Amino acid sequence: MVLFVDDELGVLSSLRRLFAREPYLVSLVSSGKEALKLLATLEEVAVIISDQRMPEMGGTEFLTLSRELAPDAVRMLITGYSDFQATIDAMNSGGATRYISKPWDDNELLQSVRDAVEEYARKKAAKAELSLLQERLELQRQNQEEKLRLQTAELERQLLEAQQDVQHQQGSYRMLIGALAGLIDLRVPTSRRHAANTSFLAVAVATALDLPPHETEDIQMAALLHDIGKNALSDDVLDAPPESMTETQLSLYRAHSVIGQSMIETVADLKPIGRLVRHHHECFDGSGFPDGLAGSAIPLGAAIVCLANAVDTEMGFQAGLAAIEKVLVKLAGRVGTEFDPELFQYISAPALKLYGN
Ligand SMILES: [Fe+2]
Repeated sequence: MVLFVDDELGVLSSLRRLFAREPYLVSLVSSGKEALKLLATLEEVAVIISDQRMPEMGGTEFLTLSRELAPDAVRMLITGYSDFQATIDAMNSGGATRYISKPWDDNELLQSVRDAVEEYARKKAAKAELSLLQERLELQRQNQEEKLRLQTAELERQLLEAQQDVQHQQGSYRMLIGALAGLIDLRVPTSRRHAANTSFLAVAVATALDLPPHETEDIQMAALLHDIGKNALSDDVLDAPPESMTETQLSLYRAHSVIGQSMIETVADLKPIGRLVRHHHECFDGSGFPDGLAGSAIPLGAAIVCLANAVDTEMGFQAGLAAIEKVLVKLAGRVGTEFDPELFQYISAPALKLYGN
């Protein structure tokens, strides 16, 4: 649709004739007011051509007001040569992009309007393409967000599953170790208390050494299970005090750490704990069993369990500050032969805490 606004009816008639054969609708109105009313009812106007000199509302004012009603239309002003200022105003505030000088040449006017119609069509197509692109971009963004959301949800699910697995496994191990530790109690009634005390002291030393949590946990388990192999010993070996054992009884007794390891290692994941149990009777100077390891060759966790085990064994059924102080003095005499001097300094505090009250 092309809209002409001119107050002279003669001009409107000639325009109607001139544009009769053009392939678009033409509307002709005689005032700016009327044109604005019409524009308010139209959905699409490609070109608006207004005369400048009209009573009531001039061309510039009309074009300016028309911008709100038909923002995309191409605007043209028809004006005489003398209306230079009006032309400038129409371009600035009225959004006019072309102007036609009066009197006009028919062919030039036809061509100008055709160009304007084309310009409008181009602008409209570009705008449609732009909004299509924006829509696609938005869709793509939403798809990516959805994809990302799904990926994040999947990762979170996997993480939760893994955490539950770990918790479940840890729970199973704890139950298993608790059950294993209970076994030895059937043979040696005081062993549960001994295992608990050894475990308390060993964890305290590991904590003082700032060992990583998984190592501390292994040490705790090894301390609980260190004598599990005694289950396999016969009553006469189990009941005999070490100092009065026969050679055969002694070698059977010494086998308890290796037997303990093989019992624990029936569960593949408990292998590191089995290794600590194997070496819990190694001595710092290499005089221990089963492998006669010395110094740093002894796994740290095993040396810690060895020390904790010795403290609770020496304490036996005693309790109180005096008893533990006496035991610590006695054990200090075995530092360097049986115990690692580096470790011994960490045992006093937890030992005093455990037995001192
Ligand atoms: Fe032992």
